[in-house]
Amino acid sequence: MTTDVYSALLEQAAGHALAYLSGLGERPVRLLAGDEELRELLGGPLPQGPGNPEAVLEMLVKGVERGLAPSGNGRYYGYVVGGTLPVAMAADWLTSAWDQNCIVHDGSPATAVAEEVCADWLLDLLDLPRSASVAFVPACTHGELLCLAAARHKVLAGRGWNVAEQGLQGAPRVRVLANADTHSAVLRCLQILGLGGSIEYLATDDEARIRSEALRQALAAHDGGPLIVCGQVGEINTGGVDRLGELCDAVHEAGGWVHLDAAIGMWAAASPQLRGSALAGIERADSWAADAHKWLNTPYDCGVAIISDPVAHRAAVPLAADYLNTEDGRRHPAQWGLEISRRSRVFPLWATLRTLGRDGVAGLIDGCRANARLFAELLAADPTVEVLNEVTLNQVLVRFYPQVPCSGDEGPEAAADAHTDHVAELFRERGRSWASSSQWRGRAVLRFCLINWATTAEDVRQAAASLLECHHSLLDG
Ligand SMILES: Cc1ncc(COP(=O)(O)O)c(C=O)c1O
Repeated sequence: MTTDVYSALLEQAAGHALAYLSGLGERPVRLLAGDEELRELLGGPLPQGPGNPEAVLEMLVKGVERGLAPSGNGRYYGYVVGGTLPVAMAADWLTSAWDQNCIVHDGSPATAVAEEVCADWLLDLLDLPRSASVAFVPACTHGELLCLAAARHKVLAGRGWNVAEQGLQGAPRVRVLANADTHSAVLRCLQILGLGGSIEYLATDDEARIRSEALRQALAAHDGGPLIVCGQVGEINTGGVDRLGELCDAVHEAGGWVHLDAAIGMWAAASPQLRGSALAGIERADSWAADAHKWLNTPYDCGVAIISDPVAHRAAVPLAADYLNTEDGRRHPAQWGLEISRRSRVFPLWATLRTLGRDGVAGLIDGCRANARLFAELLAADPTVEVLNEVTLNQVLVRFYPQVPCSGDEGPEAAADAHTDHVAELFRERGRSWASSSQWRGRAVLRFCLINWATTAEDVRQAAASLLECHHSLLDG
């Protein structure tokens, strides 16, 4: 096949990609266009006949450019949005060029082997049980679904009930205990799995960690039936990490399965500093769902599900299709996840891990955490600014007071809610940095997630300066 049909378009795309990336530093860190403008650029009736591909690519670039969130900028701290490491992006482009459909081993032997290699690397890097199985999934939510389906299978199998064959109707009741601040991704998966009706929430502390007493009481009342307990490694607001060793030991003693939502914090297990402190005991859980497209800074479509019991894992996603010939002991990617057809999403992950190595992953984690701590320090030095969380991972929760707060007085809290929202609006409008607003324990906050490899200490200083300027200009104005 001639490459001519590709070369002009791919060079054109590479030119635009480089222009976008190199312009990110200069571009305001805010949204530039409204939906109406974007509809104008992208809309209109579907043409009857074919268009010129180069011209269409130009239209695409012109149509989307102003509607892109500048999330690759080192001063963008919205939601939980990692950047993309250059090597991961390059590998992602190649993944599209190779266009493998990795259902079965023979569909793409390179994918199957890269998955085996990455699974071993991940278990080694994160020091999780080497016998665990790993699925490469589109995103953490999908990973939670696999992990919880495996958990459901295992705890019911322990009661002589095969949920894949017998279904849920008439099954023994599965008791589910969840951190009261569990992410909605986990809750929606429990609902999909028919376990939504049996969730009992465990009270949490100010950092969103399950209170030891709440866990003790819930387990003391346990009748020995099927039990799944959901903890987390990185709560969406505080970045809080459950007391993992204590959680796992107590739940195992009660005969239960521990699932950890580690969408944000999984990679922190590669940092010796964090592994010895906040993440101690993570290896004692039964399943872990995580995103490489968050803190490991790969492009999107890069989640992982890690399950300590490969038999339960396979049973959670049964696959029986004679034409696929999957019963030969080799790795067939479709046996480990929900999708049948899919792209080889493991290649960008392989390239990222191979480039960073163990020290590089730890450096990425420790660097982001140092940035988050610097940001918190710069803000907390102002007595009218409150940093609400301990910066365990990479999240900083901030609230602004119109004057120095007096604790226990409701007046200043209501005024601080309104003022924090005003600061947030002005901060985003000024476009030097970006963060999303949220509510924490009923109070208005700005949430900063410092999770991009490209963020420098100078970015952090500029973002903090912009934020404090907004705060004080509103007070003075
Ligand atoms: C704590 C937590 N859990 C789960 C998820 C779901 O991850 P995904 O959106 O990649 O499916 C997120 C997403 O931000 C998250 O922050």
